[in-house]
Amino acid sequence: MLTDRFGLTLTTSLPDARDAYVKGIDHILAATFGASVAFSAAVAADPGFALGHVGLARARMYDGDMPGAQKAIASARSFASGLTEREESHLAVFDLLLQGRVSEARGAVQEHTANHPRDVLVAQICTNIFGLIGMSGEPGRESTQLAYTTKLFDALGADWWIMSVHGQALCEVGRLDEAMSMMDRSLALNNANANASHFKAHTLYEQGSGEAGRAYLADWISDYDTRSLLHGHLSWHRALWALEQEDEAELWAIYDGAIAPTVSYSLPINVLTDAAALLYRSEIAGLKVPPERWRDLSEYASQFFPNPGMSFADIHSALAHAMAGDGERLAVLTETQSGFAADLVRPVAQAWRAIARQDWTAALQHLTPVMADHARLGGSRAQRDLLELTYLNLLLRSGHAPEAHRTAIARRPIFSQSAPIAGFA
Ligand SMILES: [Fe+2]
Repeated sequence: MLTDRFGLTLTTSLPDARDAYVKGIDHILAATFGASVAFSAAVAADPGFALGHVGLARARMYDGDMPGAQKAIASARSFASGLTEREESHLAVFDLLLQGRVSEARGAVQEHTANHPRDVLVAQICTNIFGLIGMSGEPGRESTQLAYTTKLFDALGADWWIMSVHGQALCEVGRLDEAMSMMDRSLALNNANANASHFKAHTLYEQGSGEAGRAYLADWISDYDTRSLLHGHLSWHRALWALEQEDEAELWAIYDGAIAPTVSYSLPINVLTDAAALLYRSEIAGLKVPPERWRDLSEYASQFFPNPGMSFADIHSALAHAMAGDGERLAVLTETQSGFAADLVRPVAQAWRAIARQDWTAALQHLTPVMADHARLGGSRAQRDLLELTYLNLLLRSGHAPEAHRTAIARRPIFSQSAPIAGFA
């Protein structure tokens, strides 16, 4: 029997199928373009290769092709006889995921990885910012994430993928030196791993090393295919640093070239959240954002997220609708009961509505209770700085400048000396 790169047995006897499968998995682990092509080659070489079809389903999910993913998982099911116990369980996890049974899938991933920690395609479902732990809505999910990646790291050791997702979890709880060491070790083994370059950028951001971060990403991204999963999001990181460093020309060049809904290759959740956060962070910094940018984004949000449920997306949809002046769409989110953190989406949406009216005091009242645990909404710390900066800006605008400065020191020390907020310094 053939094995994958992690020594796990595969039910195919054709080396071409195995080799293409391994390539597909590496594309997913490194967030590089080419996974669907590779898994398609695997099942072309061996049409009965069930895990090849599962891999294709996963790749198509990342392509945003859900009908294609459903078709691939159905093919996998049709070739399920004769699989090993590990492969059967692997298929069952993806079956749950593609049925949208998210909390059952989260439990199944954790059970499966306890028995098969080297089965990385399953393990990665619960890693990353938008993975099933990150989007659980549970209190303490950042610590849960770190506990999860620690176990995987113990099992996988010196592997470039686990180092990058373990480092990500370390970064998000503030263990920055360890995070940077993980990223550098991962990149030394595979410099093409976008999960490592991404969180090297995050770690530099958390360290307040914006100039080094901006230079690093500008260089790294030049070799990264624009169609890859993280191209738009890495561009967002670059644009944030351009904003911080007051390079407005580069900020808009990056927005129009790689982030705006009409040009981005990202998944809709990244397109929406990156664009909305960048536009509003630009406004907080004192830049003028043309109203048509907000209207375009509000249209995009209503097309791709017509119903509430994905709470992290929902707070960004609400922002776009509020700034575009669409009260009807916004009202759906100020009243929503749907989503893993709907109780937090409602006050954030109400805050955006007050902000659009320039009623800073009312906005502050809505946002203040959310600040106790906005991690439940999902997203990285850098992404949730949208809320931190908004909160500081509201304190400033409603006449509480000393409190704004004390709050920055207490909550987000990287903004205590200088923050990208007009009038804060
Ligand atoms: Fe990021």
